[in-house]
Amino acid sequence: MYYKINTYGCQMNVHESERLAKTLEELGYTESKDDNFDIVVFNTCCIRDTAEQKILGHIGKLKKIKRANPKLIVAVVGCMSGQKGKSEELLKKYPFIDIILGANNLEELKNAILTLQNRHKKTILTPDDEKPEVLENIEYTRTSMPNAWVNIMYGCNNFCTYCIVPYVRGRERSRKPEAIINECKTLIESGYKEITLLGQNVNSYGNDFENNEIDFATLLEKIAQIPGDYRVRFMTSHPKDLNEKVIDIIANYDTLCKNIHLPIQSGSNKILKAMNRHYTRENYLEIVKKIREKMTLCGITTDIMVGFPGETEEDFEDTLDIVSQVQFSGAFTYIYSPRKGTPASTMEQIPYEIKSKRIQKLIKAQNEITKKLSRTYEGNVYRVLVEDTKENGNLCGRTDCGRLVTFCGDKSLIGTFKNVLITASQSASLFGTITEEK
Ligand code: SAH
Ligand code: SF4
Ligand code: F3S
Repeated sequence: MYYKINTYGCQMNVHESERLAKTLEELGYTESKDDNFDIVVFNTCCIRDTAEQKILGHIGKLKKIKRANPKLIVAVVGCMSGQKGKSEELLKKYPFIDIILGANNLEELKNAILTLQNRHKKTILTPDDEKPEVLENIEYTRTSMPNAWVNIMYGCNNFCTYCIVPYVRGRERSRKPEAIINECKTLIESGYKEITLLGQNVNSYGNDFENNEIDFATLLEKIAQIPGDYRVRFMTSHPKDLNEKVIDIIANYDTLCKNIHLPIQSGSNKILKAMNRHYTRENYLEIVKKIREKMTLCGITTDIMVGFPGETEEDFEDTLDIVSQVQFSGAFTYIYSPRKGTPASTMEQIPYEIKSKRIQKLIKAQNEITKKLSRTYEGNVYRVLVEDTKENGNLCGRTDCGRLVTFCGDKSLIGTFKNVLITASQSASLFGTITEEK
């Protein structure tokens, strides 16, 4: 019996698919490497309409396959299916779906499959319980050696006015610090070299504990002190919560990557307010200044959105201006997409042509910065974790500050740290050769 998992969306989903894989393997399924499978699971995303449309298209394609093979189990789980009213909509359009689960009840997958097999009954579960229990000791089938993801918290309390995440993932729930630290220790002992801590807003880790027993900075420090040859990243940080204590700890430990993902969303104070982000462009620039004072080489990456309701040409110019001031080492840029049930979706919307022009201008501006910054790497040596092979047989890996480097070498080097001399760059790509130099 074979399984296929189609994963959409963020790293959180990629990691949760490792959990779904484990569940399926426990039930006796093996991963399918081709088009032959007995169960297919869609782990979905709904952050933007484009994401949803793509997934719906892929589910639609199963209609024929299911007709030819009625025994095929089709499960749709994760953020998209957890939206209010979505399961009814999905079943109406795709009556062949057997199982629907929200992002907060993935643990039900096993029972849902057994119920279907033994009692021919569908499971449609997208509870509105906003504070589900935090489960520890979840098992994963990890396939990303030498990288591993570790979830430190679930949900989000921020309710940015454009965002669907708090509605589909519920309120913030932190995992117990001992459980997180033990998981990291076990991963390091079993050879993982890079751990990425995950949460929608990692800086508010521990805020939901009754006696304030621990905050993110302290957790990070405890993880950084685990003995071994490894490094740690984390995402995502929120500018309203990233404090000096966290910056100091990152600066103090070699095990913590000098790389911070700090979504700015907009450079206009008016828009930031309408987004309910709780910081100003001045606050943001202040944090960047602090980061750079303590860590000259820290890579700062960001998320930026254009076309939020009410965004004027002047507001957009403010965004371009802050992009030019900060000089991000990378930026994910998005066109605002109205999400049903969020406050911004009922505000007056901006025509698509304007959004489209703005994003092109923004991408161009950032590309020039990335290209210019890439050149500053040439001639220098960086410690790179060898992570994977490229199509042409080359190796690739990341610097501590998060830049991807391509270089020649044998596959056996994957999972080791190597010093790499950067010899050339092309837009966001760096090329180099392994060297003994430091
Ligand atoms: N918790 C993280 C990630 C949220 S989703 C954070 O707070 O940054 C990742 C990115 O998607 C966001 O940073 C935002 O830039 C973008 N995004 C979220 N909702 C969106 C929407 N409705 N339309 C377009 N982009 C959106
Ligand atoms: Fe969405 Fe804002 Fe929460 Fe990020 S912090 S997940 S953008 S509501
Ligand atoms: Fe991630 Fe998409 Fe959900 S970005 S949190 S999978 S809506």
